[in-house]
Amino acid sequence: MRLSTGKIDVMHNSDTPNSPDSVGGTREGNVPFGRPLQSEFEDGLDYPRLGSMSFRRGTLTSNQTKMWDENWPHMGKVLSDERIDLAEWFGRSDAKTILEIGSGTGTSTAAMAPLEADTNIIACEIYKPGLAKLMGAAVREGLDNIRMVRGDGVEVLNRMFGEESLDGVRIYFPDPWPKARHHKRRIIQSGVLHLIATRLKPGGVLHVATDHADYAEWISELVNVEPLLEYKGWPWPECPQLTDRQVITKFEGKGLEKDHVITEFLWEKKA
Ligand SMILES: C[S@@+](CC[C@H](N)C(=O)[O-])C[C@H]1O[C@@H](n2cnc3c(N)ncnc32)[C@H](O)[C@@H]1O
Repeated sequence: MRLSTGKIDVMHNSDTPNSPDSVGGTREGNVPFGRPLQSEFEDGLDYPRLGSMSFRRGTLTSNQTKMWDENWPHMGKVLSDERIDLAEWFGRSDAKTILEIGSGTGTSTAAMAPLEADTNIIACEIYKPGLAKLMGAAVREGLDNIRMVRGDGVEVLNRMFGEESLDGVRIYFPDPWPKARHHKRRIIQSGVLHLIATRLKPGGVLHVATDHADYAEWISELVNVEPLLEYKGWPWPECPQLTDRQVITKFEGKGLEKDHVITEFLWEKKA
């Protein structure tokens, strides 16, 4: 696996030459300027091919900035080549760990966390104001099982987590990239399923949900493509982890308003 400079393009972003990290008044949790490094996987599988990167513009309020600066040092990490020491970061060694990729504003993350207090929850997101919103909920509600990583989830999985280090991975309402020419940017692809499978412990769970019919069809065609994962379908009543998001997230709600059907997928990492 090699690293090259690549570009990330995140949907709903407004093109702006300014990194949002230049606004909001804080330096904690900022990503470096310039193109982020992107891993080159040479395994013949498909990975998201990302276009030009621009972060969504977003300003933290002054209260959020204060809270962010106080809490980011112990709650957050920026994408790097540091392998995360989970026991040290969460202050416990016996807990399960679940990584949520693309947590958005963290509505469901914060709603689920108190029901899985014995589990370490790591929310991975590129959008800083989204992470700030989740941080606010976690601080207000005293949710001490939530941590966050800012960066591209594929890179975070590849570079910050060792093999068989996670009990679960969640991807709720990933950007659907509806135009055919953008399908290559979708996060659910054979290579990412393989990468997730290598990071899951045997018996670990991958949970994906989408409200986008075409993306659901795309995922359905990939459910059996990764030999390390056993597709369990939906529902899977014996699933060893919480699968009920407790709330309707912002993006889920937008889909439901348009009468979209929510499709859920569960896999188990084979022994
Ligand atoms: C459609 S939103 C869904 C957010 C949230 N899960 C919900 O249901 O409200 C997708 C989110 O994924 C984030 N995202 C997109 N690509 C990502 C990536 N490669 N790594 C981490 N987050 C990503 C976006 O910034 C956005 O917040």
